[in-house]
Amino acid sequence: MTDTDIPWWKTAVLYQIYPRSFADSNGDGMGDIAGIIDHLDHLDWLGVDGIWLSPVTVSPNADWGYDVADFCAVQPDLGTLAEFDRLVAEAERRGIRILMDLVPNHTSVEHPWFVDSRSSKTAEKRDWYVWADPGPDGTPPNNWVSSFGGPAWTLDPATGQYYLHNHLSEQPDLNWWSDDVREAFDDVFGFWFDRGVAGFRIDVCNVIIKDAELRDNPPSTEDDDFDVQLFGQQPVYNGNRPEVHDVLRRWRKLTDATDPPRLLIGETPVKVAALAAYYGDGTDELHLAFNFPFITAPFEAEAMRRIVEDTEEHFPAGAWPAWTGSNHDMSRFSSRWAEGDGAKIRTALVMLLGLRGTPVLYQGDEIGLGDRAMAHEDMRDPLGVAYFPAYAGRDAMRTPMPWRSGPGGGFTEAGARPWLPLGDDDGATVEEQRNDPDSVLAFTRRLIALRRETPDLQTGSYRSLPSPAGVWAWRRGDSVTVVLNLTGDDTELEGVEGRVVLDSRNRRQGTAIRGPLTLGPWESVIVVG
Ligand code: GLC
Repeated sequence: MTDTDIPWWKTAVLYQIYPRSFADSNGDGMGDIAGIIDHLDHLDWLGVDGIWLSPVTVSPNADWGYDVADFCAVQPDLGTLAEFDRLVAEAERRGIRILMDLVPNHTSVEHPWFVDSRSSKTAEKRDWYVWADPGPDGTPPNNWVSSFGGPAWTLDPATGQYYLHNHLSEQPDLNWWSDDVREAFDDVFGFWFDRGVAGFRIDVCNVIIKDAELRDNPPSTEDDDFDVQLFGQQPVYNGNRPEVHDVLRRWRKLTDATDPPRLLIGETPVKVAALAAYYGDGTDELHLAFNFPFITAPFEAEAMRRIVEDTEEHFPAGAWPAWTGSNHDMSRFSSRWAEGDGAKIRTALVMLLGLRGTPVLYQGDEIGLGDRAMAHEDMRDPLGVAYFPAYAGRDAMRTPMPWRSGPGGGFTEAGARPWLPLGDDDGATVEEQRNDPDSVLAFTRRLIALRRETPDLQTGSYRSLPSPAGVWAWRRGDSVTVVLNLTGDDTELEGVEGRVVLDSRNRRQGTAIRGPLTLGPWESVIVVG
């Protein structure tokens, strides 16, 4: 394989934008597409190659864009299709590609498909959704629970049947056994490909097909993970069905046939062994699949290394991992892994950008932004609103980008009320960090640049190296060694030779290693040689 055969996304650094919280161009307190365009220079300067946009399609916002009422139009309070086209063009001018978010598992209750479907048992689109008769005593058709809590079925009195929803009752699940549904989504792909999008991140793509017989899920056991035990059942029949792979193969064929080929990244919250299957034979299903066991692992050498080794071992030849630490659903890594500590944040970034695979940063990761404390009355996520204080929901990781200090934080106009609070103005802003060569932002930018100029960091193979407890060291290709000290103690590692090209403490770049490599608490280095 020559360099030019390597697809762009294997060497790329991707960046997730949560549009409502990125930048507000019109002072209504909500981020919008024009705001993203205004800040493309930041992403260009940072070295980002592609942007995944959380949904910008029409939605009544029961789940903030993840309940779609029109897959082929832009949500008015985020902008217009013309602005979207301008975003694609302006990004392209800077060498940045745009990926959309596709939500194929469900729609909004307000989507015309569902409005038709629920209108009568004989409606044209009745079988576009999953409808079933009540049990003999009027109860739901089976025992499935929604991943957002409560039964996964809601009775629709007009026709006396229940409809399925693996999330909110405002998010009815589509019936992916229907050929009409499959064809409708082929058209959605085509619509956005014609507008120049480079691919899709596909929402909960592991659950789109359900058991055709709607069998009850088996009860959870004490050997199950905590979340499975919490739901009281194993999600055997309401997701992760083998037939989902037919749909993924269909989509892969479709994207391979486009010019240029488009990228599919799956949201795949499954264990590592199951994750591998979403790559098919390595060339015929998803290009990238998010690794949730990695995201949720403790920031400890042994735990992280095991997940990465398992991933490397289970993946079919040709499959390419994706590494991420934060997104709009999970606590930010800066809080979860690093507890806000600058040394740990830098080392987490070295990990994300030093592994074999495509790193996906979430907006704010580049400045080490953490979760923000959130009062119940400020919450907008339906999960936080409903379950606080048992569960505080996802608002803490969706707060607006702090572009600069002062009222509005550079996110919105001074005096405007941001849709979610900005949190304390602690000076950790993009502007402040841009002016500080020792900032997390400057470090992230150096790391991205180093990756770009070091082919083995981009595409070299991964091999764990022996290291003392709490230290994780690996080799990339023939020339790069990455070493992380994931402890609060000084440590040493024998056998590393070469020149330090990056040091998370910014203290010995360019120096050659003589004797054992010494590392301070939570220090990490990249060595070439
Ligand atoms: C995915 C999204 C999440 C959304 C859910 C339902 O997990 O990332 O934000 O709530 O799907 O669409």
